[in-house]
Amino acid sequence: MSTTVRSHAKINLGLYIGAPRPDGFHSLATVYQTLEIHDLVTVSAHPAAETALRLSSNDKRVPTDSRNTAWKMVALALEALDLSAEVEIHIEKRLPVQGGLGAGSANAVAALVGLEVELGLTSQSVSELAHWRHWRAGWGALRLEIAAKVGSDVPLFLIGGTVLGLDRGQQVYPLPEIEPVWCVLAMPEIGVSTPQAFRDWDALAADEGLTVKAGADKLNELSRAYASAFAGAIPEGGQGVGSSGVLSEREGDLAGPEESALVRTGITSWIENDFERVVFPQHPSLREIKRILWAPGTPEAALHASLSGSGSALFGLYLAPRDAEAACARLRAAGVRSLMTRTLPRTGYWREMLLN
Ligand code: C5P
Repeated sequence: MSTTVRSHAKINLGLYIGAPRPDGFHSLATVYQTLEIHDLVTVSAHPAAETALRLSSNDKRVPTDSRNTAWKMVALALEALDLSAEVEIHIEKRLPVQGGLGAGSANAVAALVGLEVELGLTSQSVSELAHWRHWRAGWGALRLEIAAKVGSDVPLFLIGGTVLGLDRGQQVYPLPEIEPVWCVLAMPEIGVSTPQAFRDWDALAADEGLTVKAGADKLNELSRAYASAFAGAIPEGGQGVGSSGVLSEREGDLAGPEESALVRTGITSWIENDFERVVFPQHPSLREIKRILWAPGTPEAALHASLSGSGSALFGLYLAPRDAEAACARLRAAGVRSLMTRTLPRTGYWREMLLN
């Protein structure tokens, strides 16, 4: 027997960076959003006298030893639970191995969920684990801590949907959800090193005289702005929250079906990714790809377009599938690889997590 788990990609709807910290990390205020597109992670596990892990993948670029995030996560979880087991993990890569989409981080959480099902570690069904009460105490809280040890953008995948990320990105809070929109990913053949992008940010921040205090103030202000924007997008009396628990268009809204719940949050008018300020000057083609995705001033314009994380993946969000298809066609004409998917709310994220 084995358990196959969907391992979804993410984008950053916005990402603000503070000043460097003594621990070598940076404080952040970001909004993560999970996407429908996914890898498949298959886990088989049974208790044994000694722990033995084996990992394989259909993609040669995926490390198959303790460098792999899924391996790290399973090893740390078994240690925390004081269990030993023989575990086999297979990662079927479908997502592009592309910076900014969190694919490796998602694989870690998918492997953990697979392990939990295989070893019967949870009395809840996987979809029940989506509920906030399970993140607050006991194993729910511990698995968030373990995820944070594996990487700053691993814990978000224990929540799914629209997620506020603070501290170094690992401090995660579920945000009210927005209705799914179409998402076009652009995948340029450029590699961006995240640690290097942070170092470049430090140089820029030093030039601009950004102090630790000013950075912290900015992030606090933005966290409040994110939270109130998403809360403000819920119409009075909860109207507009559909049976799926997801914010939908207000009935009778004058803007009609052309208005997106995402636009109603107001965030598309101000949300930004600070990494663009250091990555675009080094790779001007990425700025051009953002413009192609966005198509400002045209009928097919994106609701929002941005670099995801430190890149090099970029995304555009669209209400109508024809607008997303038009963006893919523009990218194709420019010789840039693209992929069309949709944003995935939390309820769907947990409901569809297990394949079998
Ligand atoms: O946590 P993660 O392994 O994803 O971080 C990779 C690197 O990115 C860190 O070693 C650090 O250099 C940088 N980083 C940072 N501030 C963050 C997250 C990551 O400086 N909030």
